[in-house]
Amino acid sequence: MEKSVIRVFENENVLLESFATFLIRSANEAIEEKDSFNLCLSGGNSPKKLYSLLASETYRNLIPWYKVHFFFSDERYVAADSLESNALMAKTLMLQPLGIPLENIHVIDTSLSPQQAANAYQKELEKYFQRSGIEFDLILLGLGGDGHTASLFPFSSILSDEQPAVKMDFIKKMSAFRITLNAPLINQAHQIAFLVYGQSKAEAVSYVLGKDVNIEKFPAQLIHSSHGLVFWFLDREAASVLNNDIDSIP
Ligand code: 6PG
Repeated sequence: MEKSVIRVFENENVLLESFATFLIRSANEAIEEKDSFNLCLSGGNSPKKLYSLLASETYRNLIPWYKVHFFFSDERYVAADSLESNALMAKTLMLQPLGIPLENIHVIDTSLSPQQAANAYQKELEKYFQRSGIEFDLILLGLGGDGHTASLFPFSSILSDEQPAVKMDFIKKMSAFRITLNAPLINQAHQIAFLVYGQSKAEAVSYVLGKDVNIEKFPAQLIHSSHGLVFWFLDREAASVLNNDIDSIP
């Protein structure tokens, strides 16, 4: 994969601390340059510990958080107070403990229909980014064991999208709707960082970063930053099947 930086860490704790340090550096560089930072969050389980870490005493004072705007790469089509909601998870673990002002938190409105929610989020992004184009400073992503990222699932019709957009999709195997940034939109970000750890992700990591390209089966292979780099932060377990030249940090 072009312009990918793969970093492998000894264990989950070292991985999470390095990821937090990377995010803090990225935020402070953007804030220094343009007085703001926009960060697109991922959902699922993997980022939970990262969000708690960023809100902890060690890290909370390292960024002027009120200058950060938060967005979501995808959302489950559930009520805002559902325990399945990615936004609720991020709010509970990080955004509320850090005292982020509400106007800096841009959630996907699941009280609308799935299609309306996608359209409304696209408008919200266009309003925030205005004429500059929707180019996030940093997007965090996770990887599903089946090779999906954000809500770009194997064999979905949105995998062939060519225009950047927010899309809704019905995921058959979950019998559920998701709202997601599509790959062209994600790829406009200045930096993209995957956070993947644990043995259960090892096979998916090896396929996605392997030499064979099969986007339908491994949608995460669609992710290439058109402006910058894609960082893969892995622990040893997630990297254990990977057979590449990797930048291993013991
Ligand atoms: C979600 C996601 C999704 C997630 C992967 C990995 O809403 O579930 O944003 O793309 O990042 O499924 O999830 P885990 O970290 O829970 O394995």
